[in-house]
Amino acid sequence: MTAKSSTISINFSIIRVSLPDKRIYPLKFMKKFILDLVVTQNEQLHSNYVLIKLTHANPLPEMLPGQFAEIRIDGSNTTFLRRPISINYVDRAKNELWLLVQLVGDGTRKLATVKPGDTVNAVLPLGNGFTMPVAPENTHPLLIGGGVGTAPMLMLGAALKAAGCTPTFLLGARSSKDLLQLDEFVKLGEVFTTTEDGTAGEKGYVTQHSILNTRKFDFIYTCGPKPMMVSVARHAKANHIECEASLENMMACGVGACLCCVENTDEGHLCVCKDGPVFNIKKLLWQI
Ligand SMILES: Cc1cc2nc3c(=O)[nH]c(=O)nc-3n(C[C@H](O)[C@H](O)[C@H](O)COP(=O)(O)OP(=O)(O)OC[C@H]3O[C@@H](n4cnc5c(N)ncnc54)[C@H](O)[C@@H]3O)c2cc1C
Ligand code: FES
Repeated sequence: MTAKSSTISINFSIIRVSLPDKRIYPLKFMKKFILDLVVTQNEQLHSNYVLIKLTHANPLPEMLPGQFAEIRIDGSNTTFLRRPISINYVDRAKNELWLLVQLVGDGTRKLATVKPGDTVNAVLPLGNGFTMPVAPENTHPLLIGGGVGTAPMLMLGAALKAAGCTPTFLLGARSSKDLLQLDEFVKLGEVFTTTEDGTAGEKGYVTQHSILNTRKFDFIYTCGPKPMMVSVARHAKANHIECEASLENMMACGVGACLCCVENTDEGHLCVCKDGPVFNIKKLLWQI
């Protein structure tokens, strides 16, 4: 199967982020690609989650932690629009992109049926990505993920580790079987967990975990259900900790054209797909 690619040009606002190798990368100049990626593996993690690994004949483009891809759902009669899925991890040695997919509706269920050798069409990389610390050696970041919101935390953890930080992860799920990719997270830093039913880690929600009171962190990154992120933001604000949240508002175009994903911020309505998905909590008009 021959993988075809083409590029589209989208005018992104200039947001400067530093990559682990300390280059300053203006997002405006990050070229977006429409790629036919080839499935190398589709691993069923449990009945509701799959981990899809994809490759391309050419080296995969630069992608930043927190960015996402818009995935075309082929062969579905009901899924008209592409679906946004976070960049879970990029394995440069194998030239592989990983997507962690939770099966919630027709689109993700169809996507979950792909087999090795199939093609998945993706527009990427989209969105801004998380801010990397200016002095990583002296930063103690806490990465809090809930449910499928743990997906971008793997790539972020890998980037922070490569930059010289030791990330700490706090991952929450309903039950032990919903705690995903723990074997990957432990390679990157210390991992703490909570489950709602108490089958793994501390019982309860991530925001009730004891490390929040016993350890000192100077940056919190979070992604997950909105009530969880609001609660994390409340903790960060109360403890004067910088905090970025990756929002998962419903999306359609993914490139700032349809305005269906807007979030109310201190600059007015911003598109989560183009101006986010990552926002400093100070920008969000959440009741925290
Ligand atoms: C920036 C971003 C990154 C994302 N990353 C991932 C990821 O890495 N892995 C993953 O599995 N999912 C991720 N999602 C969510 C994913 O896009 C949706 O679950 C998916 O679009 C649902 O499509 P569907 O056709 O299966 O379900 P639909 O039939 O469209 O919807 C099924 C149900 O899911 C709800 N739903 C749909 N989209 C969302 C959403 N964005 N947030 C909350 N509920 C939703 C609908 O209201 C409905 O109840 C991300 C979303 C965004 C915006
Ligand atoms: S999804 Fe269309 S503007 Fe964000």
